[in-house]
Amino acid sequence: MSGQTLIEKIIRAHVVEGDCVPGKEVKIRIDQTLCQDATGTMAFLELEAMGVDRVKTELSVQYIDHNTSQFGPENPNDHLYLQSVCAAKGVLYSRPGNGICHQVHLERYGVPGKTLLGSDSHTPTGGGIGMVAMGAGGLDVALAMAGKPFKLSFPRVIGIRLSGALPAWVAAKDVILQVLAILGSKGNVGTAVEYFGPGVKSLSVPERATITNMGAELGVTTSVFPSDENTRAFLVAEGRGDAWQSLTADADAVYDRVIELDLSQLVPMAACPSNPGNVRPVSEIAGLPVSQVLIGSCTNSSLKDLRMAAAVLKGRQVSPAVSLGIAPGSRQVMQMMSLDGSLGDLIGAGCRILESACGPCIGQGFSPASGTISVRTFNRNFLNRTGTKNDQCYLVSPETAVATALTGKLTDPRSLGIAYPSWAMPGQFLVDDSMVLQPAPAGDAVEIVRKETIGEPPCCSPLPDCVEGEVLLRVGDKITTDHIMPAGTYLKYRSNIPRYAQYVFECFNEEGKASFAERAGKVRDAGRIGVVVAGESFGQGSSREHAAICPMHLGVRVVLAISVERILAANLVNFGILPLLFKDASLLETISAGDSFCIENLHAQLKPGADVQARLRRGDGSEQQLSLTHALSAEDIALVLAGGRLAAN
Ligand code: F3S
Repeated sequence: MSGQTLIEKIIRAHVVEGDCVPGKEVKIRIDQTLCQDATGTMAFLELEAMGVDRVKTELSVQYIDHNTSQFGPENPNDHLYLQSVCAAKGVLYSRPGNGICHQVHLERYGVPGKTLLGSDSHTPTGGGIGMVAMGAGGLDVALAMAGKPFKLSFPRVIGIRLSGALPAWVAAKDVILQVLAILGSKGNVGTAVEYFGPGVKSLSVPERATITNMGAELGVTTSVFPSDENTRAFLVAEGRGDAWQSLTADADAVYDRVIELDLSQLVPMAACPSNPGNVRPVSEIAGLPVSQVLIGSCTNSSLKDLRMAAAVLKGRQVSPAVSLGIAPGSRQVMQMMSLDGSLGDLIGAGCRILESACGPCIGQGFSPASGTISVRTFNRNFLNRTGTKNDQCYLVSPETAVATALTGKLTDPRSLGIAYPSWAMPGQFLVDDSMVLQPAPAGDAVEIVRKETIGEPPCCSPLPDCVEGEVLLRVGDKITTDHIMPAGTYLKYRSNIPRYAQYVFECFNEEGKASFAERAGKVRDAGRIGVVVAGESFGQGSSREHAAICPMHLGVRVVLAISVERILAANLVNFGILPLLFKDASLLETISAGDSFCIENLHAQLKPGADVQARLRRGDGSEQQLSLTHALSAEDIALVLAGGRLAAN
């Protein structure tokens, strides 16, 4: 028998049911969970609906990092609910201002060899410390908190063999952008990425976490680094040396595919508008005028990233053409920089210091001016995510970002003519967990605070045997959860489904015509089922389960696509929406909004591995039989027919 990859070892150690064979379904025990506030309220409403008194995981943490500073009472109301429900259910509560979930979790709670499930798509950041860390919908995280195993398709593991070391001005971000250039941002469903080889030891834990963080943009299940002496040094510096163990793949581990990457040959890269997979060397596009630079997000706001920026900016001034915003990833990073003076260097150079939170990454202000270029160290640049229509957002390393801020033009940092600041990880980080609230002891009475903006957990009716539906919308490839359920200024309505659902597919609404929500509501109220038709990689991006819950509330019960991304596919099933797949992708173009869609004998037809026959009647009266497929297991089918997990509970 050949050796095992590290991912296989960790998953095998957690298997509760199923075979560890690529493509087969396994259920694994989840050791830790994390939620952020944008997904947390739903997850906890769902946990309450399940009647769970205390969470069953080794550790669960709720972070407040997404919606921290919007106008109106909705966000503080959510925070009060989350603080009280966490106290009652045995969950740590990280207060607003303590930092971004993935950065703080890495610093304070990540443990090599453990499994972590988070209701945020960038949870795989934890792979930087040797965890199998995965993003999922809030309901799956709620189930994990309830002690239920998590179901996944055992992944094919792509090995990335690193050699060499990064040259000056080339950063971890450039590594993952290069991997995105090789693997692309679609078509990687069912795979995981494992880094190995002699180059691994040249990367610190925060650098590794930058790389695993953007594994989410590859669409892979998780990305993992070994746990080695660098991991130990990081944990010791966090005062958690006892959490360390050495973890590595077997020397004869067999990978599905191996990609060789010589770190010493990499150059500064940029993901161009408007897809993280649209990658080019910075040198090829240098000189573009830039109006805004932002350094932060869960991808690039570690102490290393920001001290580098401060060292470059010290004694210099940000270009008058540029507004430079910096959001430290955690309170730990912010505090250490305030004590060592580097925060002052940033302020002196003309930076705008933002809260330790997601901030502009989730549309909380800092939209760029119309028709101008924004350069960001974030992980996503889907069109309009900045909050400015038809934005032009480039994703780069902090090194490229700071060079650009100095010159006012997209700049390859190697051309600056400045010595690259040296970096050594501190032997001791500043550890202060006073902004993480401990839960009340089990058995203590805790009042759960539920203000008027907190709604009810979503619930859905069973799917009928004869589906009489109407196509509400046809969209193309790479539709993200942001397209389906926009965040930004609307995100504050996330705890009230009827309110938030008004904005489903808002970007496809046409002026002077009925909105998607209005049309869907009419079809639902007429007793018919709403159908959404889409191309490849439907539901890329954020793990936002509202992209399933809110369409379900509007009566959407069938999604027909060429392919559906992993997390959205699970969320659709969890909320009673049937994900069907085209066998013949060319049919997509022949379907239009307003067409009638019918499936007879659905309950008998819907079997694992079996095709589903449907009938389409077009606006011109012509009819067509559709032979469709799906990837549902027997358990998924039972759930979707019952109207989702909460209805089946
Ligand atoms: Fe927050 Fe953006 Fe990361 S929203 S969790 S900083 S992807």
